[in-house]
Amino acid sequence: MDSRLDTAPPHAIHLRDYAPPAWLIDTVDLHVDLREEAATIRSTLAVRRNPAAASATAALDLDGQELELLAVRVDNRVLGPDDYTLTPDRLTLAGLPDQATVEITTRTRPQDNTALEGLYKSSGNYCTQCEAEGFRKITYFLDRPDVMARYTTTIEAERARYPVLLSNGNLTANGDSATEAGRHWARWEDPWPKPCYLFALVAGALVHIEDRFTTRSGREVALRIYVEPGNEAKCGHAMESLKKSMKWDEDVYGLEYDLDIFNIVAVSDFNMGAMENKSLNVFNTKYILAQPETATDTDFLGIETVVAHEYFHNWTGNRVTCRDWFQLSLKEGLTVFRDQEFSADMNSAPVKRIQDVQRLRQVQFNEDAGPTAHSVRPESYIEISNFYTPTVYEKGAEVLRMYRTLLGHAGYRKGIDLYFARHDGQAVTTDDFLAAMVEANGQKPTDPLWAQFQRWYTQAGTPVVSGEGRHDATAGTYTLTLRQTLPATPGQPDKAPQVIPVALGLLGPDGQDLPLTLEGEREAGATTRILALTEAEQSFTFVDVPQAPVPSLLRGFSAPVRLDFKQDDAALTFLMAHDSDAFNRWEAGQTLATRLILADVDARAQGGETAAPQAYIDAIAQTLARAGEDRTFAALALALPTEGYLGQQRVLVDVDGIHAARLGLRRTLARELNGAFRKAYDGNRTDGAFTITPDAMGRRALKNAALAYLMALDDAPARALCLAQYQGAATMTDAIAALALIADSAMDERASCLADFADRWKHEALVMDKWFAVQALSDRPDTLDRVRGLMEHPSFSIRNPNKVYALVGSFTANPSKFHAADGSGYAFLADTVLTLDKLNPQVASRMVKPLARWRPYDTGRQEHARAALERIVGTAGLSRDVYEIVSKSLA
Ligand code: PHE
Ligand code: ZN
Repeated sequence: MDSRLDTAPPHAIHLRDYAPPAWLIDTVDLHVDLREEAATIRSTLAVRRNPAAASATAALDLDGQELELLAVRVDNRVLGPDDYTLTPDRLTLAGLPDQATVEITTRTRPQDNTALEGLYKSSGNYCTQCEAEGFRKITYFLDRPDVMARYTTTIEAERARYPVLLSNGNLTANGDSATEAGRHWARWEDPWPKPCYLFALVAGALVHIEDRFTTRSGREVALRIYVEPGNEAKCGHAMESLKKSMKWDEDVYGLEYDLDIFNIVAVSDFNMGAMENKSLNVFNTKYILAQPETATDTDFLGIETVVAHEYFHNWTGNRVTCRDWFQLSLKEGLTVFRDQEFSADMNSAPVKRIQDVQRLRQVQFNEDAGPTAHSVRPESYIEISNFYTPTVYEKGAEVLRMYRTLLGHAGYRKGIDLYFARHDGQAVTTDDFLAAMVEANGQKPTDPLWAQFQRWYTQAGTPVVSGEGRHDATAGTYTLTLRQTLPATPGQPDKAPQVIPVALGLLGPDGQDLPLTLEGEREAGATTRILALTEAEQSFTFVDVPQAPVPSLLRGFSAPVRLDFKQDDAALTFLMAHDSDAFNRWEAGQTLATRLILADVDARAQGGETAAPQAYIDAIAQTLARAGEDRTFAALALALPTEGYLGQQRVLVDVDGIHAARLGLRRTLARELNGAFRKAYDGNRTDGAFTITPDAMGRRALKNAALAYLMALDDAPARALCLAQYQGAATMTDAIAALALIADSAMDERASCLADFADRWKHEALVMDKWFAVQALSDRPDTLDRVRGLMEHPSFSIRNPNKVYALVGSFTANPSKFHAADGSGYAFLADTVLTLDKLNPQVASRMVKPLARWRPYDTGRQEHARAALERIVGTAGLSRDVYEIVSKSLA
């Protein structure tokens, strides 16, 4: 009855096999009857043959999984078992007229649905999750995004237990059951045709907060956020974020909301962050609930971004959707780019850009370098759930940013406008998107530049841009030579050059930007120029450059590439101090720190150690001294590159060497600049009133960055400060920052602080997630034992994704513990993945990814990892999800 593997390995689905559906579904009338024993779903479909289909005789072949089929009727005639074919994943009806009404009744057991896909229960309430292929677990259907239908949904349930009944669109009727006491029903109609992955229903004992938004053209929209009772007071920030998003989309994209109601429901059991179902977004509570006492500044910002992301999908994803799941980045890359720019506008743009790039590098570059590397528009998949990846999302967003860099803001907006003018109401491809972008600007997709641009969608891997500059003092010219290479990835041994927009500035000796004139130009141009690197190697010569400049490349991170540009430490220190591009000021510091740490890793491997040069320490002192200009920026500039990022710079990752060298540099800075860190701490205390203004958040970020340095020495004054902060914290930001440092330390109070925190917050699930995370991320030698123990803690549940991500996910993000040389981390993860896979394949598959990336380690670790992976893949009844990741990693 389910989709698990028995013996035959599952087959892959290929983009090249796409064919239009043989049938279309115009309307869907669902009747959902919810009872404690089971849910019964009666679905009435108006189907007709697709005139665009290849075959005019094909049967109606419906997807369905884990369903109990109760009845089928066609045009009111009851079908017998001989009139259809039923397999574990399809229901096939042959010999239908060209147009028919098909009525199918199925039964499911939501209370037993631990995979959290289809119809399931969370905290006693019913909810659904249909993207990508969950609708087929509710009823038999053409479960593919290019089948768009109009839905009417009637939900019936017990009134006392499930007073709130919601679905997509408008509430058109409701009442008491005519036949059974205590039951009620509600009917919802969605006027907008949509693919079934955007269907949703909710039934439960929920409370809501309400607000209104008036659109630019005067439509009054009711906004509601539904939560479990007791959480009403935690929804205010999400509601403000929603209103800001609605306004921003009108102002920046000219896009208005298209219904009179917009509902959000927050549920505590959810595999992902949130889901953009038409007018009924379902959210993980993590991205709705926030109060200063329970949520950190990062949480507040995450809520703003995710609420915006799901709202923005109403146009980019819902009004215009994907033809097939290979096109996923059509909606996700674009919507991530939109939410990134929204958050940049609401907060500090440079800070947001740095954080987005950090994330891209940490997770997407890592994916690109491993066994599951795939292009933004993948060619094939075994399980589509595995393709909600950093490549499709974050690299996809970078592709959108590059369109805008190449076409300019106005050109980009023209392209967007043409995209909606052409494709509103359609299910389309990334090629359609590219055509709209390009043609709106008077160009053609076949023009060499755009033909090359398409490779950003089709080639996997992170391009490496290397090069050097040469100043000719006599001619007064500066010549920049750049080269690009793209490493081979699984299934793609050979690659061709891509167009890489390189934003460039040249700093004069005074630190000021020079106006840039390329050879052959008559007038000086802007101080930041976009160079289109299209060849494997290319040179750009600038004139009127009397003195040797310091180049600033890839300003604002203008392309998702690794930059390997020859530049000495002095030039980097100069850029740290003077670059007008904030991103590159930060980047110069990171590049320098990376060099220092990696040099020390090598020295340590030889039994030595290297010391940080005074110039670097002075540069960090400068960063601290100027921190008041932008405190959040300063906090980011003070943070050293992560162990993960440092590891990516190496063919063979020296786990312990990197850990030790990074800690060594933190300690050196803490020792050398102790007074300055202490001053930064004292000068940015924010005890008292809580606000989430950039200034207040900046103060907290800087203060906590300083505290982290001070605690690197783990001495008595630092411990006292940290303990006092924990005990007196007015915000979760300050409390958890201190607790994380305490959890890393060998302080006597460690156990009592952790116990105190758990006691205080045991009734707040999201806060307990933080408690699990700080312990799983701890640097203490017994972290794995503690993690094992915490899996038995009453607040932990392996069925709740947030808990698994907090405890198990955080542990895998703790390199020196997860990659312990004895293989204990790998064995633990394999055990956990096997347990998880029986309950929730999507979560299991996400958790196994760090293990799948086993190659860049020494042979001892490799052997342990292989053994763990082979144990997983040798287990009977594995899900397709985990099978795909593990088999690719062993290939
Ligand atoms: N489409 C959701 C988003 O990006 C993510 C998601 C995918 C949620 C699959 C649930 C299941 O906003
Ligand atoms: Zn999305």
